[in-house]
Amino acid sequence: MNWENVYSHAKQWVKEAGERIRQSFDQTLNIETKTNPNDLVTNIDKETEQFFIKKIKEVYPSHKILGEEGFGDQVDSLEGTVWLIDPIDGTMNFIHQQRNFAISLGVYENGVGKIGLVYDVVHDELYHAFRGKGAFLNEKPIPPLKEASVSESIIALNATWVMPNYRIDHQLLIPLVRDARGTRSYGTAALEIVFVATGRVDAYISMRLSPWDYAGSAVIVEELGGIITNLRGEKLDYLSKDSLFVAKPGLHQTILAEYLKDGKW
Ligand code: IPD
Ligand code: CA
Ligand code: CA
Repeated sequence: MNWENVYSHAKQWVKEAGERIRQSFDQTLNIETKTNPNDLVTNIDKETEQFFIKKIKEVYPSHKILGEEGFGDQVDSLEGTVWLIDPIDGTMNFIHQQRNFAISLGVYENGVGKIGLVYDVVHDELYHAFRGKGAFLNEKPIPPLKEASVSESIIALNATWVMPNYRIDHQLLIPLVRDARGTRSYGTAALEIVFVATGRVDAYISMRLSPWDYAGSAVIVEELGGIITNLRGEKLDYLSKDSLFVAKPGLHQTILAEYLKDGKW
């Protein structure tokens, strides 16, 4: 397989999909709910996923596609080449704000992330990496990550996890929020993970994400030395929902050992 071709196709298709999304801003959205009243999907999420599937199947008919909106294949193993696609990550922001959302795309070979793309459509910022060949923001190389201490860190996490909730004991994350320099919440996992990659934030924590939320950004952040695991410090499996913890090197070990060790994540 010519991976350079896959990489250049992926970049080209993501840019085209982004242009279609920008052009849709004047249209009235058709908004539906999925698992609960705040779990939203629009016609643009669906059309964008279908756009990718058509392009990929035309050129790479043997590749498998796992897409959030379900138009791809039934994927239950990462054998072979698999594209993991979130057509719009941050749909709530897309609907309410028309910004702070991204297209996320990862291409995996036998479970190993080869290509990762996250496209911030509104800012025309494409974060991309090809394993072993560096990570870029548009054409500019992103420098490798340096270590950071908790007291000088900005941690991205959702306020839900520090108030009573049904997933975790909300007391557990309070010391980390207290000791960090600051916290942020952007409402788009894919961008929050590439913000770790670019050093805009130092860590990001989520209690439950799906493979398409992080498959693209994981390749980018790992290429720069960032560590991405679940909250127990275990490898993600890219096929099932899990908690997620990504941070700069060093900081990841410190937070796991000093702040997360007692949680039943
Ligand atoms: C969501 C966003 C959000 C995260 C949710 C995801 P979607 O993805 O990444 O930031 O907190 O868990 O489901 O539904 O907008 O693609
Ligand atoms: Ca998502
Ligand atoms: Ca989505």
